[in-house]
Amino acid sequence: MADQAFVTLATNDSYARGAMVLGKSLKNHKTSKKLVVLIGPHVSDQSRAVLHNIYDEVRLVDVLDSGDAAHLAMMKRPDLGVTFTKLHCWTLTHYSKCVFMDADTLVVSNIDELFDREELSAAPDPGWPDCFNSGVFVFCPSNETYGKLLQYCTQHGSFDGGDQGVLNGFFSDWATADITKHLPFIYNMSSIAIYTYLPAFKQYGANAKVVHFLGQMKPWSYTYNPSQRRLKGDMQGSLDPSFLLEWWALYSGEVVPLLMGDYGDQPFYSGCEEDVAESTHVQPIMSSAERKQKWEQGQADYMGIDSFDNIQKKLDVFLK
Ligand SMILES: *[C@@H]1O[C@H](CO)[C@@H](O)[C@H](O)[C@H]1NC(C)=O
Ligand SMILES: *[C@@H]1O[C@H](CO)[C@@H](O)[C@H](O)[C@H]1NC(C)=O
Ligand SMILES: *[C@@H]1O[C@H](CO)[C@@H](O)[C@H](O)[C@H]1NC(C)=O
Repeated sequence: MADQAFVTLATNDSYARGAMVLGKSLKNHKTSKKLVVLIGPHVSDQSRAVLHNIYDEVRLVDVLDSGDAAHLAMMKRPDLGVTFTKLHCWTLTHYSKCVFMDADTLVVSNIDELFDREELSAAPDPGWPDCFNSGVFVFCPSNETYGKLLQYCTQHGSFDGGDQGVLNGFFSDWATADITKHLPFIYNMSSIAIYTYLPAFKQYGANAKVVHFLGQMKPWSYTYNPSQRRLKGDMQGSLDPSFLLEWWALYSGEVVPLLMGDYGDQPFYSGCEEDVAESTHVQPIMSSAERKQKWEQGQADYMGIDSFDNIQKKLDVFLK
């Protein structure tokens, strides 16, 4: 439907790269909805050009320059700058319904059915399940709601300093009023869940629809070697390598060519390594039981035996 859209937000070039991959992933899974990206004033011209290529609408949001209620709210609560930028999505009143997605999410399946849900639908936050997560939510743009949200913000602030606190305060009956507004966890499968509840992942993981790359290390924080399909960087921690590699495959295969197309052969800040000859990396030999134990502890051998192809094969086998 032409009056429904997926909406994301990029405040700088790093998040813009996330938005590019998210937009591509939505298109590759054949969404019938429009794609809108809100950008901050710090996003470069190069990034804007590529976002224009992927998104139907690229809208500059500069709350400091808006001269409206948002500006006034910002003067009172300068600490909530990014939050005000995100709340701007309610002003997209040429759409009747939208789904907001953070730029560090990746769609791994068509999720247009989310538009059957009402405002405000969102997934529970695993840290405090009576709160919803503001990384993926269904909303209805409205000047009236927007005005009330700004008013709420200036009066009450945010209990967590960000948009999640504001939205949970404003839509405070979410936990109890209507269970159809609770999105299943598959719409926000954090890569962490794979390690913390492996049995559930085996049972339900094949249904994953949205992966959210949480924490400090974002997909774009790594360096990637496209010919070997391997990542460089501090891999310890929680990220699941198969989804991370899926993000990079999309980025290097479909976004980097766009970055190069407009700006000669100098892909700006692509994060991809120059092609290097296959390294003579010696595989450490480990038993399958040892390997499984390490994997469950979050210590996969990302570069070698647990690299993308192998993990993908394994996942395909036990998820089918
Ligand atoms: C980009 O924006 C995000 C979200 O607003 C912020 O958390 C991050 O620190 C910014 N990164 C840079 C490199 O400025
Ligand atoms: C998804 O869940 C994580 C915790 O696993 C939470 O911190 C995050 O904010 C959630 N994001 C979305 C997209 O709802
Ligand atoms: C909401 O406000 C904007 C800006 O004032 C205006 O252009 C738009 O038509 C309004 N939308 C509705 C549905 O009233």
